[in-house]
Amino acid sequence: MTSRWMAMAAGATMIGALAACGGSGAGGAGAGGGGEEPQSIEDMTVGVAMPTETSERWIADGAAVESQLEEAGFEVDLQFANDDIPTQQQQIDQMITKGADILIVASIDGTALANQLKAAANQDIPIIAYDRLINGTENVDHYVTFDNYQVGVQQGTSLLRGLGVLDENGEETGEEGPFAIELFAGSPDDNNTAFFWQGAIDTLQPYLDSGVLEVASGQTEMDQVTTLRWSQETAQKRMEDLLTAHYGGGKEQLDGVLSPYDGISRGIITALQNAGYGDTIEDGLPVTSGQDAEIASVKLIDTGVQFATIFKDTRKLATQAVEAAESFAKGEDPEANDTETYDNGKKVVPAFLLESDIVVAENIEPLLVDSGYWTAEEVEAGQGD
Ligand code: BGC
Repeated sequence: MTSRWMAMAAGATMIGALAACGGSGAGGAGAGGGGEEPQSIEDMTVGVAMPTETSERWIADGAAVESQLEEAGFEVDLQFANDDIPTQQQQIDQMITKGADILIVASIDGTALANQLKAAANQDIPIIAYDRLINGTENVDHYVTFDNYQVGVQQGTSLLRGLGVLDENGEETGEEGPFAIELFAGSPDDNNTAFFWQGAIDTLQPYLDSGVLEVASGQTEMDQVTTLRWSQETAQKRMEDLLTAHYGGGKEQLDGVLSPYDGISRGIITALQNAGYGDTIEDGLPVTSGQDAEIASVKLIDTGVQFATIFKDTRKLATQAVEAAESFAKGEDPEANDTETYDNGKKVVPAFLLESDIVVAENIEPLLVDSGYWTAEEVEAGQGD
């Protein structure tokens, strides 16, 4: 822990304690300020707002956060918003009305919750942004996430490994290509998208500059390649259009695709298979990156269809969020290990960043099976229990 961080934490604690005096929220209760009876964790409810149940990762996050909060003694109000912004706004409004003491929020659109969070802050309810930063508001007290720029670096690296430009240690092989690639980015309203993109493009840029990599569509700006709501169907359609426009009729063959998320990867792979690229990488299917170690994609990696994914252990993220909630409940500030990177336009939000790993066929077992994230049977079935 740096001394800068400690100074910052000390300052924030004072603010927390001051806020505590005025309010009925967790900070106030935990700190026992303002002459109120200290409230114990057993009397506290944490509202947990998750974006969607269409992606496994968020179901797993919701389940892990809920069970770990319950273990810690909290009551939990867990809601999924079906990737619909008004639904998420309404759910958070209701959590506040029903008396939530702390909020944990994984936003759909990082800029759409300012009103809800203002209402929460007015009642001294601490707000923890979960995985995705919430922008344009003072009212975010803490952020738990992965090192999102590094996730992007790992995505770019895994694509270069799949193409054979880098070896498994990340060393250059001397392979010069040229390789034809296309680029996909995530949802433009998710704050993580730009971080993933920047990490990936910084990794790929030297090879684009030297001509080892070529993008036939010319679409190399993030704004040209985003995928609203991280939609698999949208990605499949864009891949189909790219193939028709730039790779049809015996023109150039595509070798690889930068994909920021496993659902998007599966859309891309379907388009490529339908276009006759072959069923597996060995049969000529371009190499594709991914993210989240979703079970359907882990099976595809195991069977040589998708090249890689990025494993972000959602259990650890949940633990971090629950520890942050416990700190707020005691009137303390949660531990942060990054107090510089995540500027939401109104403030730099103190963050705790976790590390992620590249998963390829060879390390599914040590990373995912041995850690209990997926069982060997689930990997084989391509389905969770
Ligand atoms: C998360 C990723 C996820 C994506 C789509 C991002 O905010 O960080 O892990 O793949 O959303 O759900």
